Amino acid sequence: MMKQTHNATIEKARSTAELSHEELVELLNLPQQQLPSLMAAADEVRQRTVGNQVHLRGIIEFSNYCRQHCCYCGLRANNNDIDRYRLTPEQILDTARTATQAGYRTLVLQSGEDPLFSPKTIAELTAEIKKMGVAVTLSCGERSYETYQLWREAGADRYLIKQETADPALYKCIRPGHTLQERLQCQHWLKDLGYQVGSGCMIGLPGQTVETLARDLQLMKEMHIDMSGMGPFIPHPKTPLHLGCTGSIFLTLKMLAVARLYMPWLLLPATTALASLHPEGRELALRAGANVIMPNVSPEEFRSLYQIYPGKLNHHDSITDYFNRIKQLIEKEGRSVAIDLGHSFLPSFHQ
Ligand code: 5AD
Ligand code: SF4
Repeated sequence: MMKQTHNATIEKARSTAELSHEELVELLNLPQQQLPSLMAAADEVRQRTVGNQVHLRGIIEFSNYCRQHCCYCGLRANNNDIDRYRLTPEQILDTARTATQAGYRTLVLQSGEDPLFSPKTIAELTAEIKKMGVAVTLSCGERSYETYQLWREAGADRYLIKQETADPALYKCIRPGHTLQERLQCQHWLKDLGYQVGSGCMIGLPGQTVETLARDLQLMKEMHIDMSGMGPFIPHPKTPLHLGCTGSIFLTLKMLAVARLYMPWLLLPATTALASLHPEGRELALRAGANVIMPNVSPEEFRSLYQIYPGKLNHHDSITDYFNRIKQLIEKEGRSVAIDLGHSFLPSFHQ
């Protein structure tokens, strides 16, 4: 056991989420020997506010076609070096049924921005999956207010649309032709429509600083975000950012812990990106304040094709076997798998 050194700001963060920009920066700059104390504080706040349950979300990656050109992502439109696929509606519904039977209480429909899946098709799929008694999260990019409304009326509970970075200039560089403002507009629309909104950012983007990361947390708090997926940036060889450095596991764990201390209600995933970099990435994240795991439940033959970054964690288990493997991991950490739908803690926190 590493010796836990005292830090006044960690002590403060144990008892209040009211932290200034400077305090967030200070926590994010803590040296390695203070990581155990920071993680212990986040773990204590996690236990006290959102409890011991870990929420599992099964992700169905239903299409890897994308019309966008994000500079960090291997699915970008002009990467001709990957095999593209689309699941049929039948394949999607079969997968959803199997995942529901395995024990998942939330299913996430995720894709690139694929124009060939019409808003109506996605609405119909949402309505069908809702009949299975699970919560539905959509993660299908920037769409019009009307499209989000259609999907909400079809029964979608949540939407994932990460801010990626709170630095507007960096955002413009990494998402050519788009602005952070447009992204936040989508989040506002989704909130207005009654969705629970998941944001998040990448850690270790070229040109990003610890100040930017503190600002990322502040922006998510201002936006009343329900969930935040934060993972290390992993350079993809077929993208403009191929020369970037891989994001730090240490800094990622600090971000998770500080996010938990600063926004105690958050649904905070142990991201696949972190698990792809470290064999115990999920366990470490759970000890740093995380309370969500999002396993891939796509049919096996497509799993390796959704290569947003190289080395993305893959598995060859059946959906049920993998669910049970993750359940064991969670129980080994002294935690339990949630059996409710795992909705946002934000409303009750603010009552
Ligand atoms: N490294 C890490 N995360 C990435 N994402 C996309 N590309 C990368 C990468 N190279 C994340 C982004 C995006 C989601 C699809 O995956 O945060 O929102
Ligand atoms: Fe497309 Fe999303 Fe990748 Fe951007 S991050 S290229 S929108 S799949």
